[in-house]
Amino acid sequence: MLSVFINQATRLITPNMVAGNRTMVPVLNGKKTSYVNLDNAASTPPFNAVVRKVNEFMEWYSNVHRGMGFKSQVATQVYEEARQVVAHFVKADPEQNSIVLVRNTTEAINKLAGRLYFPPESVVISTAMEHHSNDLPWRGRARVMYADVDAKGALDVNDVEMKLAQNAGKVRLLAVTGASNVTGYVNDVHQLARLAHRYGAQILVDAAQLAPHRAINMLPNDHPEHLDFLAFSGHKLYAPYGTGALIGPREVFAQGIPDQVGGGTVELVTHGAVLWAEPPHKEEAGTPNLAGAVALAKALKILQEVGMERVAEHERRLTAYALRRMGSLPGLKIFGASKPEEGDSRVGVISFTVQGMEAGLVAGILSSEGGIGVRNGCFCAHPYVIKLLGFPPEEMQGLWERISSGDRRNLPGLVRISFGLYNTKEDVERFIAVLGKIVEGRYEGKYTLNCQEGSYWPQGFSPKVEHYFSL
Ligand SMILES: Cc1ncc(COP(=O)(O)O)c(C=O)c1O
Repeated sequence: MLSVFINQATRLITPNMVAGNRTMVPVLNGKKTSYVNLDNAASTPPFNAVVRKVNEFMEWYSNVHRGMGFKSQVATQVYEEARQVVAHFVKADPEQNSIVLVRNTTEAINKLAGRLYFPPESVVISTAMEHHSNDLPWRGRARVMYADVDAKGALDVNDVEMKLAQNAGKVRLLAVTGASNVTGYVNDVHQLARLAHRYGAQILVDAAQLAPHRAINMLPNDHPEHLDFLAFSGHKLYAPYGTGALIGPREVFAQGIPDQVGGGTVELVTHGAVLWAEPPHKEEAGTPNLAGAVALAKALKILQEVGMERVAEHERRLTAYALRRMGSLPGLKIFGASKPEEGDSRVGVISFTVQGMEAGLVAGILSSEGGIGVRNGCFCAHPYVIKLLGFPPEEMQGLWERISSGDRRNLPGLVRISFGLYNTKEDVERFIAVLGKIVEGRYEGKYTLNCQEGSYWPQGFSPKVEHYFSL
């Protein structure tokens, strides 16, 4: 048996640290197999310790702030402590910054877009490798320019600097991902911060894919490489209970009217006027997600106990191993850095295509025949994937019309595997075994395409999902 791919020095990283790691799922041959989750870039399972902590907390659950009941005092203390844990995790100064607890990265970035002041003619520099959540919120707020990527999909830092220089004085923000959810490329966010500041702009780092995999240090607010704003999601770092974070300078949130208003955001209200609360409370309208805050804080504490360097090292080795094994299969095209020794430049996210096969079919076979969960498509980064695939611009209109009419056959897309810290070499081997059969055309099922969904389903195999879990 292959050895479990854990850091022997600590034994803190184990496959069983997450819930449901070996859940049995049905496969095409009529048997069941243990599920291999290689879709961690979408969402990770919770740490078991997070589930336990949330359940434990439920004995103390009560609404926060201003309740004099003892449970309300406990809940308020826990909720405020969670902010401190978040600040500590990313080394943000809690005196100078507001730690706003939100639902997820998307909400965080939309909130920031609604809260920043954009003078007329303002420019936001985004990049060609962004998730839609760090692109669409900026449109309509300012003129958005996209810094280019090279042929493999790595950010062209020279283009970032050129755009900053050409628009100096107008660039309000550089909005950039910390790590790509498509190629896994990691950006040098401190170099980018230095550049942004040099040209009078601030920087937002979308850390949805960075925070689960690398240590983050926002640095002191007056440091030239300080990260001004940071956004990330709990469900991508072992705390899928609906809480994420937006961190940024307090004065940004102290000014103006919050994007959502109502209970919790105010000190005093008359029918004619409002005295707003101090941030971060001002930014958290309504009753907050307390279970989510507990889960997020507990997950961050566990990651810190394990040590982000160890997490990064474990995933680096796993990614290099997967790249090596995938490199031995014919007909596979890997996007981004594909050499095992290039592992440092990427987190454990590998996107690929199989020659002559639609991504949806590959994902369908991996699931139905291997019990392996992966993702396929354009991963909410359409411009990036379209560019990586070299999809002809003249075919874009046709694609637009086909999708508008509900026809999702032959859509451009990739297959993506993505690792969490609990994944092992055995998981990679399980994946390689099925992928090997796929590239050699030796898979078992006959698959039909659902044209409306663009998904492939094996004939004669329709396990009842409600038998596995129902309410
Ligand atoms: C790089 C990146 N940014 C933003 C998001 C959006 O995260 P959420 O869905 O948690 O809002 C994702 C989600 O996949 C992502 O990968």
